[in-house]
Parts: sequence; C-alpha cells; structure tokens
Amino acid sequence: MTSLEINTDIAEYGDFIQREQEVVAHIGAVNFEGLNEPVLLSQDLSGGCGGKIWECAEIIVNYFVWKNGQGEGSLFKDKTIIEIGAGTGLVGLAVAKICPDLKQLIITDQIAMMDLMQENTKLNNLGHLVKPKILNWGEEIDQEFLGADVILASDCIYMEEAFIPLIETFFALTTNKNAIIYLMYRKRRNADKRFFQMAKKKFEFTDIMDDPNRDVYTRRGFRLFAVKRKATK
Ligand SMILES: C[S@@+](CC[C@H](N)C(=O)[O-])C[C@H]1O[C@@H](n2cnc3c(N)ncnc32)[C@H](O)[C@@H]1O
Repeated sequence: MTSLEINTDIAEYGDFIQREQEVVAHIGAVNFEGLNEPVLLSQDLSGGCGGKIWECAEIIVNYFVWKNGQGEGSLFKDKTIIEIGAGTGLVGLAVAKICPDLKQLIITDQIAMMDLMQENTKLNNLGHLVKPKILNWGEEIDQEFLGADVILASDCIYMEEAFIPLIETFFALTTNKNAIIYLMYRKRRNADKRFFQMAKKKFEFTDIMDDPNRDVYTRRGFRLFAVKRKATK
C-alpha cells in the first residue's frame, strides 16, 4: 500500500458516471465470486438512497472476498466491526459471511434504513453476529460503538453538508489507536476534494494497492482507502 494524492482532475459529472439506477422494491440474491453463498437482500428506495446496492459496496465486498482467500486465516477473526451508512447492510452482511469468526459487527445508518437493515439481517440468519443500529453522523456516539477494530464506510462521501459530521464520526469511532477504516469512495464532484483536505488533518489515507480489480475501478473514479487516525502529539 502506498499513499497517493486524490486525482481531482476528473471532470465533474464526467462520462465515467453511470446514470443512477432506480430500483423497484424486491428481494433477491446477490452473488460474489469466491463466496459460497449469496447475500439475500431486500432493496427498497422508499426510505432513502441507501435502499439499493451501490457499486462501491460490490467493489469493497469483492476485495474482502479476495483478500480473505489470500491469507492462512480469516481476515477479521475476533475483530469488532462497525459499518456506517450501511444502507441495505450488504457490505456488513457479506463481511459476516466471509468471516463468520469475527467477534461482532454493528451495521448502522439513519432511522429510515433500520427496517431494511433488520429485514436483511434476518433474511441471512445473521442475527447472532450482526446488530443493526442507528448512528447519525456528527451526533454523540453511543458507548457500544466505541473501541471497534474495523470501521467500514462504503459510498458515504457524497453530500457536502455531511463532510464535517462524517469526519467527526470517524474521529469518535477511532478511539482504538489501531482502528482501521476501510473507505470505499466514488468520485462524483470536485467538491469532494474538501472532504479529503479536512479529513487529512486528522487521518492518514493509504490507497489499497493489492486489489486485483484496482486498475479497472480507479479508471472509473472509484478508490479504496485504508484510513488511520494520526497519532496526536
Ligand atoms: C450512497 S448510500 C451507500 C449505502 C451503502 N453503504 C452502499 O455502499 O451500498 C449512503 C448511505 O449513507 C447514509 N447516510 C447519509 N447521511 C447520513 C448521516 N448523516 N448519518 C448516517 N447515515 C447517513 C444514507 O442513509 C445511505 O444509506
């Protein structure tokens, strides 16, 4: 992994951006190559944009499936994980299937996503491992969310008014000094640069370079980072 600067030369709303797909509410099976069972997923956009599968989620899950297959043991064995802006919960639920020996995984979003996160956790029989909870960025963090080893954030950088609350939440969640944030990002606007400028004051961003699919998705404006809180002097 090496640190790289964000490429801000990509034109705003350039050709690489697909027209966002509307989704009719339904339940389906989402398959990932290398994962021996699908994630069953209810999608429903009536509660907000998080109610469907975003491409960031597919990219980061594919990376975790691949990465998990590279090592001797399980990628997140005994780890405490929290996902923010989870939407349907696809990333967290897939991670729980990839690494059933993780310690605990809390998937979080705003209240409007709660029913969907609960339904999807049940559909996959993962209630013993995955807990859906409410976490609004920028608000005071519940004690139970503190001390996680891993924080997952897929496609959470898309609204300028949420940049500061999102950074505050990352800061509040990384009390464990070894905590690592896996941040899957899709460039949509040049204004995103502000998020990175502000966040880099408190966090170290490292491009994840070992993903075999990296070249394909970076060309299309997607980036996967490992983010760590900078040590305070
Ligand atoms: C583009 S969706 C991504 C969903 C999912 N992570 C994925 O990659 O498929 C962004 C998610 O962030 C959530 N979100 C937006 N603002 C939020 C806030 N202030 N607090 C908590 N979640 C928020 C939305 O509800 C939505 O589920």
